[in-house]
Amino acid sequence: MEKTFLMVKPDGVQRGLIGDIVSRFEKKGFQLAGAKLMSVSSELAEQHYGEHKERPFFGELVDFITSGPVFAMVWQGENVISTARGMMGATNPKDAATGTIRGDFGLTVGKNIIHGSDSPESAVREIGLFFKEEELVEYSKLMNEWIY
Ligand code: TYD
Ligand code: MG
Repeated sequence: MEKTFLMVKPDGVQRGLIGDIVSRFEKKGFQLAGAKLMSVSSELAEQHYGEHKERPFFGELVDFITSGPVFAMVWQGENVISTARGMMGATNPKDAATGTIRGDFGLTVGKNIIHGSDSPESAVREIGLFFKEEELVEYSKLMNEWIY
C-alpha cells in the first residue's frame, strides 16, 4: 500500500489544527500508519529540506520548522501521495483553493500549515528520516470494502 509522510507544521500545531487535519485524511479513507508530536532539530530540518539548501528562504524555513512542535504522520492508501498533495493545496495559501488545508487555514507561504511528500522517492526518504520501522503499524484488518 502506498505511503506518504505528512507533517502539521509548528503554526498548525499552535493554532490547534491537528485534529481537523487528521480528520480530513481519515474521512477521505486513508489509514494512519504512524504519528508523533515531536521537535525537529536543525540537523533534521536541514536534511528534510535539503533540496532547498540554495534557496533564499532556506534559513527562514529551517528556523520556522524548528520553532515549535510538529505533528509527524505516515498515511497509507491508494494514490495517497498525490491525493494528499491535492488535499493540502498549493504551496502558497494565497493560490490554494478553498476546501484545501492551505486554502482554508493559511495566508502566507512562510506559514502554510502542512508538509506532504511530493513523490514516491520523497515519501520513502522522508518517512525514513522521521520514523523508525517499529514506529509504523501494519493493519491486520481487511481493507474497507466500502472504500476499495
Ligand atoms: P516547496 O517544497 O516548494 O513546497 P511544498 O511544501 O508545497 O512542497 O517548499 C517547501 C516549503 O518552503 C514550503 O512549504 C514553504 C517554504 N517556501 C517559502 O517560504 N517560500 C517560497 O518561496 C517557497 C517556494 C517555499
Ligand atoms: Mg516540497
